[in-house]
Amino acid sequence: HRHLLGIEHLSPTDIAAVLDRADTFATTPDSRAVRRDSLSGLTQINMFFENSTRTQASFEIAGKRLGADVMNMAMQASSIKKGETLIDTALTLNAMHPDLLVVRHPNSGAVALLAQKVNCAVINAGDGRHEHPTQALLDALTIRRRKGRLQRLTVAICGDIAHSRVARSNIMLLGKMENRVRLVGPKTLMPPGIEKFGVEVTDDMAAGLKDADVVMMLRLQRERMDGGFIPSEREYYHRFGLDAAKLAHAKPDAIVMHPGPMNRGVEIDGEIADDINRSVIQEQVEMGVAVRMAVLELLGEGRG
Ligand code: CP
Repeated sequence: HRHLLGIEHLSPTDIAAVLDRADTFATTPDSRAVRRDSLSGLTQINMFFENSTRTQASFEIAGKRLGADVMNMAMQASSIKKGETLIDTALTLNAMHPDLLVVRHPNSGAVALLAQKVNCAVINAGDGRHEHPTQALLDALTIRRRKGRLQRLTVAICGDIAHSRVARSNIMLLGKMENRVRLVGPKTLMPPGIEKFGVEVTDDMAAGLKDADVVMMLRLQRERMDGGFIPSEREYYHRFGLDAAKLAHAKPDAIVMHPGPMNRGVEIDGEIADDINRSVIQEQVEMGVAVRMAVLELLGEGRG
């Protein structure tokens, strides 16, 4: 593959190859960060047209740990503000001969469009409500390390499914690896026709979490709700927020995940998020660096 635009384009073998490579970055006997010079001499540009904490920081750290020259474009301060289009901005950066372009954009499909116009490898760091492939890969690595496998697991993905690129990428990845996926959330936040992806759908947390191995919580994406139905936080937490009573329906050793950013007391009880026996939220962030190192290295190979 030249680009990483979505999980949609990956085979189970591709997914396993990324996770196996990422494992080598995640494990050291003395738990110190792995460093290599495999991207030495390559230029990586991060272009984030939407806010990010985890994804942008981890792509920057990942590139630097592999020896790349990493530049973060400050999009708020760029000529986009003067009316330059996405494609013209991309062509301008392309003329500086980057090797790797990491792009986040609020419009679904914008990253794939941009990839057609440039000569370098393009990585989708989240496009609208479409895909966030490195998030699904880091979730998969976290699950595989905690559960010892990435097959035949029951995974409940809960909350605002309709607006979530994280949910879409996870549904595809977990389905390709032959897991059972349940989507749990209000009917108004469930994308129509999602059952065709082979998932089960319910608006009842007890039924959705029953005997789950993994419980993945999602944020209400208010910025994508453009005037539509927005539930009150109190009512939402009561019916769909993950608390101890609802988590009791899952398997006793079920892990709790959240891609972040998290809203405590809305989709998840703060105590559960902080419970080191159940929550793997910080481990997901840690695996994010390892997965992004693997993706950058795999796409950067041969470009030096
Ligand atoms: N999970 C995730 O994409 O977080 P950021 O928006 O902080 O990058």
